[in-house]
Amino acid sequence: MGSEGFRIRGFRSDDLNRVMTINFECLPENYSSYFYRDLYRRFPKTFLVAEVDGDVQGYIMCRIERGLSKLHSFRPTRLCHVVSIAVREPYRRRGIASALLREAMRNGSAEYRATECFLEVRVSNEPAIRLYEKLGFSKVRRSPGYYMDGEDAWVMAVPIVEKA
Ligand code: ACO
Ligand code: ZN
Repeated sequence: MGSEGFRIRGFRSDDLNRVMTINFECLPENYSSYFYRDLYRRFPKTFLVAEVDGDVQGYIMCRIERGLSKLHSFRPTRLCHVVSIAVREPYRRRGIASALLREAMRNGSAEYRATECFLEVRVSNEPAIRLYEKLGFSKVRRSPGYYMDGEDAWVMAVPIVEKA
């Protein structure tokens, strides 16, 4: 536990209901329990939760993908795709999402050799866009009508810099 009063740890199977509840509360993009379990089975090191006083208040889940770099044309790259991140409203603005993202990127690099991280975010989601820009992400492309309700997404990406 840091001085900030939260702790980042790996997701466990018994966190599933809690994580699904947080996702429902925070985002219109929701998933089946199978979807969460499958991501956890394949990429456990980049599925993390944040605990405050022993209760989970936020999560991040990622998929490691092979594809072309979003930042350099035509360069085959191992990508850490942030599928979903959320922090419950009363626990925002204390660095929890930043810590979840940093740890997921560190593990994506160390455990799965990802060299770039990317995600999609609603063009209207200013808090999230600010968060990603603060962590060094840049907008690489606008994806028209990406969301079910027709809203566009920004695709944002950042190189993962390995630290000794
Ligand atoms: N307004 C302006 N800037 C903000 C805001 C805000 N409401 N929230 C975060 N930021 C920026 C600030 O620069 C902040 O640093 P500061 O507090 O020192 O000014 C920085 O981001 C870091 O903020 P954190 O405290 O680390 O972020 P937090 O734990 O509050 O979580 C999150 C941010 C995840 C976006 C949260 O607001 C949330 O859960 N929102 C609803 C769900 C959501 O939109 N998730 C992202 C969807 S896209 C995807 O999942 C790939
Ligand atoms: Zn995505």
